[in-house]
Amino acid sequence: MARARLNSGDCSQDDFPKAKINKKSIKNIGKLLTYLRPYRLKFFFGFLFLVLSSLSLLALPALMGSMVDAAQGEQTLAVIPSDMKTIGVVTFCILAFQSFISFFRIRLFVEVAERTLADIRKDTYFNLITLPMDFFANRRVGELNSRLSSDLSQIQDTMTTTFAEMIRQGILLIGGICFLFIVSIKLTMLNLAILPVVVVVAAFFGRFIRNLSRKAQDKLAESNTIVQETLQGISNVKAFVNEAYEAKRYANSLQSVVNLALKGASYRGLFASFILFCIFGAVVAVIWYGASLIATGELTVGSLTTYIISSLFVAGSMGSFPELYATVQKTVGATERVVEILEEKREDVSIVAEDNQVKEHIAGQLRFEHVGFSYPSRKEVPVLQDISFDLDAGEKVAIVGPSGTGKSTLASLILRFYDPTAGQIYFDERPALSFKLTDIRNQVAIVPQDVLLFGGSIKENIAYGKLGASDEEIIEAASKANAHHFIEAFPEGYDTMVGERGVKLSGGQRQRIAIARALLKDPAILILDEATSSLDSESERLVQQALESLMKGRTSIIIAHRLSTIREADKIIVIDAGRVVECGTHNELLLNENGLYRYLCGLQQEQKVV
Ligand SMILES: Nc1ncnc2c1ncn2[C@@H]1O[C@H](COP(=O)(O)OP(=O)(O)OP(=O)(O)O)[C@@H](O)[C@H]1O
Ligand SMILES: [Mg+2]
Repeated sequence: MARARLNSGDCSQDDFPKAKINKKSIKNIGKLLTYLRPYRLKFFFGFLFLVLSSLSLLALPALMGSMVDAAQGEQTLAVIPSDMKTIGVVTFCILAFQSFISFFRIRLFVEVAERTLADIRKDTYFNLITLPMDFFANRRVGELNSRLSSDLSQIQDTMTTTFAEMIRQGILLIGGICFLFIVSIKLTMLNLAILPVVVVVAAFFGRFIRNLSRKAQDKLAESNTIVQETLQGISNVKAFVNEAYEAKRYANSLQSVVNLALKGASYRGLFASFILFCIFGAVVAVIWYGASLIATGELTVGSLTTYIISSLFVAGSMGSFPELYATVQKTVGATERVVEILEEKREDVSIVAEDNQVKEHIAGQLRFEHVGFSYPSRKEVPVLQDISFDLDAGEKVAIVGPSGTGKSTLASLILRFYDPTAGQIYFDERPALSFKLTDIRNQVAIVPQDVLLFGGSIKENIAYGKLGASDEEIIEAASKANAHHFIEAFPEGYDTMVGERGVKLSGGQRQRIAIARALLKDPAILILDEATSSLDSESERLVQQALESLMKGRTSIIIAHRLSTIREADKIIVIDAGRVVECGTHNELLLNENGLYRYLCGLQQEQKVV
């Protein structure tokens, strides 16, 4: 259920879905609270200071009241001598104490929250990067990112502010009400008579207004999506001259936001006037009735002062509770999403670098035995069916077939991004499952279909294949990948920044960087997914040369659309609709009159002639 909701909604900063507070959510909160354990002493003192400072605040109304009484020569305090000077000094002392411990309270709470949250953040991130691929297939990156940023910030805010605020307001509320009763039961009853009316109206209006503002927010999110989409696809917008269309779409969307907001404003205005009337009405009623009680001698002026200040405390904390409760609900939602990641089953990958040594070496022999596979997100669609083939160590094999037949999927099975749903994969005649996951991934390298470079220098990007590689190794790998020349041509050479904020490399350049990266890794098995697809003939020749040196001495699997690049392969496996339809060398396959390979070769030959 949570997952379905997560998929459908983008959790931007100001749009937290709230969650119900129930047994499960309390369990979730409990799980996160265990992160407080190392800092429990600091937390305890923070809590103690919080209670003390709230309690000391409660003394203010009584002191103020007795000061007014003292001005009229009356004694109303039993604990201290009730002259104005003493009361004034005591009050300032209490205030000073209050401020003094508030400093420590805030300092301690923030420290505990920061440290705890850093621990939770780390664990969430560690868990996230060790989760299996199908976890990511079902989610958008932006959404996961928001869990790490805004969900955890929400939890942090609650720990630093909301929690303290709730305790403080709770103490002020309960203490304040006690004071009210002590000072004057009659006045308190009068107040309590007004309260239900206000509460009912506030609840009714509140819900109505909240609904309206939620709708307005949804609409605003919709219009933001338009902006995001058009900016992302700005080249499409321009190429199709659809500026006018997009402008109109955005204007319409904004108009409906404004309409909803205006409707909300009317109700909000009505509500505010009503509440203001109630608040001031209550004040007038209390003073009016209180004055009449003073006239009859039932109440002193000082007590009325005490009463009014206490009731301000009570009203203030009552008013703050709905907001606090809403924040808690949001936090519960955030907790749920964070705990979901923390509880998800991880892959058998360690986040400790020392565990990452290769334990069992793979020579490079690879066998697929009746392998079948469907993606976890679309279980009913078989992507690969009954795939069997056998590669000797050091052999060069090509996989060809029409688009969407499962070639890249096959590559991800070798890397164990997913496990087959039927059959088995063997490395060196041993089932893949019997190897450590890291052993396989450390000895299989892939030059993927779309190469993604990280934000950083070219050097760092190549070194990603072997952390800690020396400059010489990096340059050697780049030279073998035919990348050295173009890298040297940049003014900053290997330190040129690439990625989102750096220079943009062309498809072929990126591919050669990826090849250098794979070379540095020195794998037993190498997978090239369409490594030459986005290249012109000259770059293709360069990349082809780079690949030749990369493939030497290792099992290589070349997934290719351009059949000219794979003639030399020891074996060509033709896949169609997830099944192996042909297998053999280039010459053998050409002999098959009705074969798919011969047909595909024919097509490419024709194109060349044209
Ligand atoms: N993560 C995924 N979840 C669900 N289905 C997927 C996923 N990735 C790919 N598919 C589906 O699996 C099928 C095979 O995809 P795959 O990427 O393996 O094809 P391909 O042979 O590499 O195609 P191309 O030659 O165009 O690269 C396609 O129908 C695709 O829609
Ligand atoms: Mg592919």
